[in-house]
Amino acid sequence: MAEVVAVLDFGSQYTQVIARRLRECQVYSKVYPFFTTAESLKEEGVKGIILSGGPSSVFAETAPKPDTAIFNLEVPVMGICYGLQLLGFLLGGKAEHSEEREYGKGTLTITEDSPLFEGINKTIRVWNSHGDKLTQLPEGFKPVASTENSAFAAIENRERNFYGLQFHPEVFHTEQGTDIIRNFVFSICGCTGDWTMESYIESSIAAIHERVGDKKVILGLSGGVDSSVAAKLIHDAIGPQLTCVFVDNGLLRKKEREAVEKLYGDHFQINLVVADSSELFLGRLAGVTDPEQKRKIIGNTFIEVFESEVDKIGEVDFLAQGTIYPDIIESLPIDGNPASLIKSHHNVGGLPERMKLKILEPLNQLFKDEVRLLGKSLGLPDNVVWRQPFPGPGLAVRILGDITADNLKVLRGADAILLEEMKKADMYYKVWQSFAVFLPVRTVGVMGDERTYDNVIALRIVESVDAMTADWAQLDHDLLAKISNRIINEVKGVNRVVLDISSKPPSTIEWE
Ligand code: XMP
Repeated sequence: MAEVVAVLDFGSQYTQVIARRLRECQVYSKVYPFFTTAESLKEEGVKGIILSGGPSSVFAETAPKPDTAIFNLEVPVMGICYGLQLLGFLLGGKAEHSEEREYGKGTLTITEDSPLFEGINKTIRVWNSHGDKLTQLPEGFKPVASTENSAFAAIENRERNFYGLQFHPEVFHTEQGTDIIRNFVFSICGCTGDWTMESYIESSIAAIHERVGDKKVILGLSGGVDSSVAAKLIHDAIGPQLTCVFVDNGLLRKKEREAVEKLYGDHFQINLVVADSSELFLGRLAGVTDPEQKRKIIGNTFIEVFESEVDKIGEVDFLAQGTIYPDIIESLPIDGNPASLIKSHHNVGGLPERMKLKILEPLNQLFKDEVRLLGKSLGLPDNVVWRQPFPGPGLAVRILGDITADNLKVLRGADAILLEEMKKADMYYKVWQSFAVFLPVRTVGVMGDERTYDNVIALRIVESVDAMTADWAQLDHDLLAKISNRIINEVKGVNRVVLDISSKPPSTIEWE
């Protein structure tokens, strides 16, 4: 098992970013709720503890505080922002409450030698977030760096290996931030950097073997990154004991089903069951225009089809899912933590509870970028590992109004051209998503000598890092012209193409 450094979560929007930075340094890190006991951290054998930032004031009655016994574990502790205030406050220093929080860039000047700043320039740009202010350091601490606004921008008690930073080393705007984190984990915590994809693959294959034994596993393969990587990893571990079920709901993109059959069935030789249920789905969706209603029908029908396929397979013990780490990190209900307001509304719920199967989630410790890296290491092609997100309800959220076989055909044709041109122009992997939307309106056009009265296709092409916010991508006009021309010329039933130039918020990425 890899060495682990714990990140105690006090509600900062950057908590996960800290864990990711540590993993980029090849040190395994996990996010724990702030109240995790020292005893259980000790049991996990943590090599170091990082106290995250957070929106609270240490003076607030409801301020989240750690189990103070963590300070007696004799492992290095580094507090970031609110974490630094906690160190100061809980170890006997003095702090002042300040009503105003101040965010932004600052300049850090390193004033003393510190193992934390080994190899760091004497002055660096940092990303600050000031809330309360330390006015007196606890015994045994000294300041090692300052900023314009704070004499205690970085503090240390080298004897006990406690460090505090008023700024955020984990965010991109802090220069050499990752180097500071690296100093903490390697020089101070003594980690060796044993978290690599190879070691992960080895240990998770062993773990899957051990857990599954000679039992059978099923997995709902969607063709998306997470379920694909999970399928390949589990297949590498247990081979034919795994069966993947791919539900063709009739709402897939052009040639999508064939691509799945070819890659997983033919190429990787994974047991693959393809449930052709387009008629069932499209029959139930006929005449339904309300988006919520569409989603409900699709979700329920999926469960029904999946269950009946599993029944046909016979005795099955495990349901495998491509759940990834950000899906399971609990968002703490701390006031002001934006993460706690974000609901996950996208997954097909209810399946595990109903099926009474044991759950196997081999990716649940990985961030998205690590899942991609894992997929690469397992030999999945780039067009799977780097594919754009595609919603569970498929093209149903991209056909406004009635979903009919004709509308689907038009949308598929337009979407395929858009994808092809994006790939040719080397833009497909540079944007977050690029897709076509079918609008249930007809407009007038002329083709040759004839007047036409045909459908409108909207192009939605966005940039984003996490889909929480997004902006429309400013593509080259020649490329847009080519896409539009080809769609109008080649897809029967379309005489107008429009471009969506709205950002999220206030719009969303999908049109529904
Ligand atoms: P919105 O439209 O909410 O989309 O801005 C944000 C991201 O989520 C994807 N999306 C879905 N994914 N099931 C999914 O698996 C869904 O029902 C669903 N709805 C939206 C969307 O493609 C975008 O990446």
